Amino acid sequence: MFSTVAVVGAGTMGQGIAQLLVEAGLTVRLYDHAPQALDRAMAAVTRRLQRRLDAGAQPATAPGALLAAGAMTQLADAELAIEAVPEDLGLKQAVLAELEDHLAASAVLASNTSCLDIDALARATRRPQRVLGLHFFNPPPLMPLIEVVPATATDQTVIAAVHAFAQSLGKTPITVANRPGFIVNRLLFAMIAEAVRIIDEGWSCAADVDRALCLGASHPIGPLALADFIGLDVTVDILNSLTIGLGPHYAPAAALRDLVAGGHLGRKSGRGFFPYG
Ligand SMILES: NC(=O)c1ccc[n+]([C@@H]2O[C@H](COP(=O)([O-])OP(=O)(O)OC[C@H]3O[C@@H](n4cnc5c(N)ncnc54)[C@H](O)[C@@H]3O)[C@@H](O)[C@H]2O)c1
Repeated sequence: MFSTVAVVGAGTMGQGIAQLLVEAGLTVRLYDHAPQALDRAMAAVTRRLQRRLDAGAQPATAPGALLAAGAMTQLADAELAIEAVPEDLGLKQAVLAELEDHLAASAVLASNTSCLDIDALARATRRPQRVLGLHFFNPPPLMPLIEVVPATATDQTVIAAVHAFAQSLGKTPITVANRPGFIVNRLLFAMIAEAVRIIDEGWSCAADVDRALCLGASHPIGPLALADFIGLDVTVDILNSLTIGLGPHYAPAAALRDLVAGGHLGRKSGRGFFPYG
């Protein structure tokens, strides 16, 4: 089992994954290429961990350690690395290729990609048999599912080890075929794309679209509030990638592209389809 894990990319997902792993008693080395992003992330994760303890959370295991890594050389003792950098194939390939130069040959390299081709990521390294997709959901400490996406070359022992690891975190892992969007995002982003199109075509307003899905289909959160939560820039990246992989019905409509162009990225920027305090 993995005891030291490198998390690469300290944004929305990297922070959540780091928190989850520290709460499970692991040593986490958190790396971001932007020093300010790393500082912000360290402060945010530390604050969240403390808030949970202050609220009387009784962890099953003693919390692990959260360590900031200012350079990839400081990730050398990680047995597993999880990359959570932006959804860009070339960027993720470059990050994985660089990572493997710093980690032991036995280390597993995992990508938190939402929809990119895991074979293309695995091929960027010299150890495709130790590369796979490990898709957490937002927020990682709370969401129970992890999609495990093997590349064609991924070793069965690596798949088994990652399943056991996910279960040790209290998650339910499912093995999913390496197809665009896997299961969850193929379905979820079809709905988000259509919800934005309804706004674009003037059929309804954002509040009513979300109300319709919450009250009419028992969804706990509407598709537009969910896009705000994911991050509208990340949502556009994922929709563009799904458009290439699955077809034009995933293309991000103008209402979404305009918000991103205006710097309105959802919760993280204070405004998206809805305003945030
Ligand atoms: N946001 C979600 O709800 C969600 C859910 C599941 C999966 N994902 C996936 O997780 C990944 C990250 O998404 P996010 O929302 O956390 O993005 P984000 O933009 O919040 O964070 C990305 C982080 O990566 C850092 N980064 C960029 N280039 C880097 C590099 N070369 N080396 C190290 N760090 C680098 C950035 O500084 C930033 O801090 C994407 O692949 C996304 O599709 C996102």
